[in-house]
Amino acid sequence: MKITPAVEALSVLSGRDDYEAALARLRELSRAYYGEGDSPVDDAAYDRLRLAVLAWEQAHPDEAAPESPTGLVGDGAAPAGDIAHTTRLLSLDNVFDPAGLLAWGASLQRRLGRAPAGGFAVEPKMDGAAVAARYRAGRLEQIITRGDGAHGEDVSHVIGTVEGLPERLPVPATFEVRGEVLFTQAQFETANEVRAAHGAQVFANPRNGTAGTLRAKDRPYRLAMTFWAYGAVELDGVAFVPAGATHAEALAAVAEAGVRTTADTPAGLHVVATLAEAQQKVEETAAMRAALPFGIDGVVVKANDAAEQAAAGSGSRFPYWAIAYKLPAVERQTVLKDVVWDVGRTGVLAPTAILEPVDIDGSTVTRATLHNPADIRRRDLHLGDTVTVYKAGDIIPRVQAPVTALRPAGAREVPLPTACPHCAGEINKDQERWRCAKGTACALPALIEYAAGRDMLDIDGLGRTYVNALIEAGAVTDVADLFTLTEDQLTAASGSAKRGAKLAEQIGAAKSRPLSRVFCALGVLGTGRSMSRRIAAHFGSMDAIRQADAALMQEVEGIGGEKAPVIVEQVAALAPVIDKLAAAGVNMQEPQEAQPAGDGPLANATVVVTGRMSGPLADLGRSEMNALIERAGGKAGSSVNSRTAYLVSAPSAAGKPSSKALKAAELGVTVLTPEAFADLVADYLG
Ligand code: IVH
Repeated sequence: MKITPAVEALSVLSGRDDYEAALARLRELSRAYYGEGDSPVDDAAYDRLRLAVLAWEQAHPDEAAPESPTGLVGDGAAPAGDIAHTTRLLSLDNVFDPAGLLAWGASLQRRLGRAPAGGFAVEPKMDGAAVAARYRAGRLEQIITRGDGAHGEDVSHVIGTVEGLPERLPVPATFEVRGEVLFTQAQFETANEVRAAHGAQVFANPRNGTAGTLRAKDRPYRLAMTFWAYGAVELDGVAFVPAGATHAEALAAVAEAGVRTTADTPAGLHVVATLAEAQQKVEETAAMRAALPFGIDGVVVKANDAAEQAAAGSGSRFPYWAIAYKLPAVERQTVLKDVVWDVGRTGVLAPTAILEPVDIDGSTVTRATLHNPADIRRRDLHLGDTVTVYKAGDIIPRVQAPVTALRPAGAREVPLPTACPHCAGEINKDQERWRCAKGTACALPALIEYAAGRDMLDIDGLGRTYVNALIEAGAVTDVADLFTLTEDQLTAASGSAKRGAKLAEQIGAAKSRPLSRVFCALGVLGTGRSMSRRIAAHFGSMDAIRQADAALMQEVEGIGGEKAPVIVEQVAALAPVIDKLAAAGVNMQEPQEAQPAGDGPLANATVVVTGRMSGPLADLGRSEMNALIERAGGKAGSSVNSRTAYLVSAPSAAGKPSSKALKAAELGVTVLTPEAFADLVADYLG
């Protein structure tokens, strides 16, 4: 995988005055970067400025300010506190590309006087706040921030709220564990809901939230965070890690004692022999980034051998035996220009943020999702605000929070619609997600077209024009009406007896589609194709789905406490439509799976499909391919990463491999032609 460089363009300082100004700005920004408040620039801009200052200092060592932030742990911005660290808690030096990693390797070799022989540990660089946690006789006694590296602040008030850092260990061990505390994405969402409920401003991002939460000692609420250890040191002279243990062994001892470590993250800790392999692991971790449940801002490469670490030594800011390979920022700041509202096929009003174009992780972002009116108000968004926008990998970008310090004078709150943006009718505001009071009828043409689509009822030839004609004639008021249409009505709508007969035949065939497709065609809020398949597989029949209450609905994988009652309510509201479907003879059962999940030729393998299928699979749409993969025991993936088992891809006619095929080749993922894949799952076809 090619990683977009984290720092794209380096600004060059023109002289001493320029340097002084940049230094002052860097001090101001670093206080915000490490502090609780809004940061007026994003990380990418901060890193650029920091590198420009550093470059000038390296070119003019005699003129560099003696107290420059570039020479201090945490850029000298974090409050020092009054608790002395047992040994200095250092930061890390950064590189941004493969050449930087090799240069670090060369410097390590110079310091050792020979090539390092103990291999390298590679682990994720979690984007939170560094802390030291002191355990005595198995009891967590104190948590201390990094501060200036020599002294930190006592933040023991968070003891008991940090997952992975238990108050009591199963063993009476005495040691100090060092690592990163942060909000996982799920914890961050919850934290912001709790804050909004208390009238507090939402956190701009998980890192700012962590810094603020560590410092805030008298909040009326407690917020859950998570810890991962990346090191351990001895405490009170009690030996903990055996002398000479490697970095990986030290972390294994920490995990053994009951504290979570970087090795426990989905990205894991990998020990490799060479820097080329380390680079490979960096790329694999970068490819996983979007799927990780917490933010990472890089990958750390460390000499694994304790003796080599000691021989390489440390400077005042960072150890020479470790390096942070920074990844591009996935959060940028840009201006919220407008918010537009669409009506989904189920009648839900969906807001989209229109943004000043901004480059995030190699692509230009102009639109981002927002949730609903209540969420827009919770985030206190104003038009013209500078907002933080998050995007990683293939996910849809989302707006996180406004930078209130940069709010222009006279900015007004994001206006909320007063009428349905589609039909200008009334809005139903009973739930946080507003809906057109007409519900599905508002977006009926789109809904019927969706229901007739290839992956749902698959009524070939029933496109938007004929759907509109049927609706206008009053022949179709919901999806069930399709199944009672006469050939005459279809002839009138399509303008030809031949077409009418063909459509009638297609509709007849659509009656026997599996339940998953019939259910999906209902357009229940929050149930797309995959979710409909899961619901149908879980309950087996439409009757069972209709009988399920919220608790039972929640048993379906991927349906949480918030979604379940909404689905139950919608299914109940669709009762007349479902009754009509059943009366028209539409299938209400899901065919039994050939094999229990997890068995079959693809047992638990993740399979990604790209391009046109051919041979025995030629007629299968993407949804059918996904269903086939699941029948054969596998999981359907959307992007190629290190966990992908197979990529199914036809060789491209032009001989130009797709981006997915290129990625598969880089990661060593097996690529199968549609024909070879069909052989593999032959028993599950049809
Ligand atoms: S090692 C002496 N490993 O990144 C070694 N640091 O930008 C010091 N960080 O201050 C740190 N994940 O707070 C290390 N796997 C990891 C890390 C990690 C996150 C943080 C840490 C450090 C900062 C430097």
